[in-house]
Amino acid sequence: IMDQALAAILAAADLDKLEQLRLDYLGKQGSISSLLKTLGKMSPEERQVEGPKINGAREAVANAISDKKAALETALLNARLANEKLDMTLPAPIAAKGSIHPVSQVMDELAEIFADMGFAVAEGPEIEDDWRNFTALNIPETHPARAMHDTFYFPEKDAQGRDMLLRTHTSPVQIRTMQSVVAAGGEPPIHIIAPGRVYRSDSDATHTPMFHQIEGLVIDKGINLGHLKWTLETFLRAFFERDDVVLRLRPSYFPFTEPGVEVDVGYTNIKGKRVIGGSGDDADGGWMEVLGSGMVHARVLENCGLDPEIYQGFAFGTGVDRLAMLKYGMDDLRAFFDGDGRWLGHYGFDA
Ligand code: PHE
Repeated sequence: IMDQALAAILAAADLDKLEQLRLDYLGKQGSISSLLKTLGKMSPEERQVEGPKINGAREAVANAISDKKAALETALLNARLANEKLDMTLPAPIAAKGSIHPVSQVMDELAEIFADMGFAVAEGPEIEDDWRNFTALNIPETHPARAMHDTFYFPEKDAQGRDMLLRTHTSPVQIRTMQSVVAAGGEPPIHIIAPGRVYRSDSDATHTPMFHQIEGLVIDKGINLGHLKWTLETFLRAFFERDDVVLRLRPSYFPFTEPGVEVDVGYTNIKGKRVIGGSGDDADGGWMEVLGSGMVHARVLENCGLDPEIYQGFAFGTGVDRLAMLKYGMDDLRAFFDGDGRWLGHYGFDA
C-alpha cells in the first residue's frame, strides 16, 4: 500500500487530487486507517511486529502528503507571480487626449484681449425675465423686435409675475450690471464684457438654436462714438492678429442704442478664401458684418437708475461662434455643436 500511496502522492497534479489521496489513505475510512484498526484484534506478538510497520507507513504517507502540498502551493504561487509580472518594456497605450473646444478657445482669447483694456467679466443667467431681456432694453411688449428674436418662452412666470425666457442675447447683462452698481450705491465708470450662451428658435448652416455672444458695456462721463470706434478697432486687430484690419461703421437700429452702429471688417480674397484684413473696397475685397453696437439709449440708462444727463456709454454685441469661424476658417456653424470627435480633433486646441 505504502509504495502505491507514495507514488500516487508524487504524481498528484493539484491540491484537490492530493486532498482526495489524503482521504483515501488517512481519512476515517482510508486504507491505512483501516489497517491501524486491525491492530486491536492482533495478538501482542503480532502487534509488536505489525504496529511499527503500519504506523511507519502512516507517518511516511502523511509526510509525503505535506511535502507534496508545500511543493504544489509554491508552484501555484510562482505561477501567479509570473502571471502578474508587469513588462516594463512594453510601450504604454496612448491615452485619448481632450482639447479645448474652438468656442472656449475664442472666449478665452476675447476675455484676455478685453482684460488688457481694463474690462471685467460680468455674468448673467441664461434663463432671463422678459423685462431685462426686452422691456428694460427699450423693446416694449408690442415691439416688432420681440417677434424677430424667435424667443423660447417658458410656460411659467417668475416670482414677480414676469414672463421667463431663454435670453435671446447677452444685452440683459448690461441691465443687470448697471442695476447692481446702482443697488450697491456705487456709480460708473463701468467697463465689462459678458460672454455666454444665448438662444433663438432658428437653425440652418449659419444659425443654431443656441449660440454664443460676447457683450461689451462702457459707462462713464463724456463717453462718445470715438471711444466705441477705438475700442472695437483695438479689439478686432488684436483678435485677428493683424494691424491692417479695417472697420466700416454703418448706421443701424437697435432699440437700446442711439445711434446704433453696425460694424463690418474688410477682407481680401486670397486664392478664393476670404482673409480678414485690407480695405474691403479693393477689387478683390469685401466687407463682412461682425458686430452690432451703439451709444447706450438714454431710456436704458434711466431704466437702470442712471441719469443720462450725467452718464453716457456705448455697448456692443458680437457672435463668438461667428468670430471663431472667421478666424479659423470653418464653414458650418452646426459643426460646433455636433460633438464630432474628428472635427473637434481637427480644430481642437491643445489644453
Ligand atoms: N444684442 C444685439 C443682438 O443680439 C447686439 C447688440 C449689442 C447691439 C449691444 C448693440 C449693442 O443682435
